[in-house]
Amino acid sequence: MSSQPKPCILFSKAEVEAAVKRLAEEIREDYHDKYPILIGILKGSFLFMADLIRLLNFPLEVEFIRLSSYGRGRESSGRIKVVQGLQTSVKGRHVLVIEDIVDTGLTINFLLDYLGNKKPASLKLCALTDKSSRRQIPVTIDYLGFSVPDKFIVGYGIDWDEKFRYLPDICALEDQDK
Ligand code: IMP
Ligand code: MG
Repeated sequence: MSSQPKPCILFSKAEVEAAVKRLAEEIREDYHDKYPILIGILKGSFLFMADLIRLLNFPLEVEFIRLSSYGRGRESSGRIKVVQGLQTSVKGRHVLVIEDIVDTGLTINFLLDYLGNKKPASLKLCALTDKSSRRQIPVTIDYLGFSVPDKFIVGYGIDWDEKFRYLPDICALEDQDK
């Protein structure tokens, strides 16, 4: 019988808070006078985006987009589609995409392509975590919180099969018997 995996802390709540503060400072510096649209990728980015935006304190718009890439397991299906699209035009606007984790890069590559075709004035990426060892396609992360090891990541909004989003820390799932 397989046991339930257990979350082990990689980055504590305090470390996450410090990283979000650092990212907010970088983003404020670059976007404070640009009235950007921040596009959060649902659902994993929702906590990160909320905390980040609270610290930005300059005029901006918020949008969400929902993609399907992962099924219910731990592996990406590689087939990506837009499940819930944008409610506004990004043409001529400064767009900053907010993602929870860049893994193979397939999802974000698809989305940046999709948004790029809509002719924004600029298009950049802010990712909370980067699992670069698994990359299948090159991705430029303009604002990065943490590099993470090749483990399944949960917490701070990030889930495993809808579980563990509520954890305040960024964790790696480990097998119980390890
Ligand atoms: P990619 O297309 O392989 O880069 O996968 C990107 C998406 O898969 C992310 O937006 C996450 O939603 C999900 N994902 C990838 N790795 C993990 C992980 O370790 N934990 C939870 N979700 C993940
Ligand atoms: Mg995601």
